[in-house]
Amino acid sequence: MATQLEQTSEVVTSVVHGADVPWVWMGFENSGVEMKLLRRGREDEVYTFMNRFAPGFMAPRHLHLGEVHAWTMEGCWCYLEYDWKARAGDYVYEPADSIHTLYVPEENEGLTTVLFTVEKGLDLYDENGELFMTQDGAGLEELYRAGLAEQGLDWPDAILP
Ligand SMILES: [Fe+2]
Repeated sequence: MATQLEQTSEVVTSVVHGADVPWVWMGFENSGVEMKLLRRGREDEVYTFMNRFAPGFMAPRHLHLGEVHAWTMEGCWCYLEYDWKARAGDYVYEPADSIHTLYVPEENEGLTTVLFTVEKGLDLYDENGELFMTQDGAGLEELYRAGLAEQGLDWPDAILP
């Protein structure tokens, strides 16, 4: 006998149309990395965003406080510490406590776009091994707001809380 599955009305699914959320520069204009925030993760500390990297971009070394799922949409990226490269269609899993340095090969011909879902956040370290920032959903929201302000744009209602 078939089971009838019924959904209670309190359970809400959502779509974020990518075109409704603009790309903004992270940090400063032409920093080599742009971002679209898709879900802020206020309730569960799991946030989702896209990055678009220029060839040669390198991010600070970081320690993950929770796990990360990454989906490569175009281009190629990697970590200095590992021997793999992720290309379009490749999925990357990063467990909590992993430490590494994101790098986008200089020989890439175009941009690299990656969707990240991050739990809790990450600690960022400078070249001397000193912790200089803990970035979580709130921190990313701040960065995104700064990027929007830079371009004179309002907060997109499409972003999930
Ligand atoms: Fe990472």
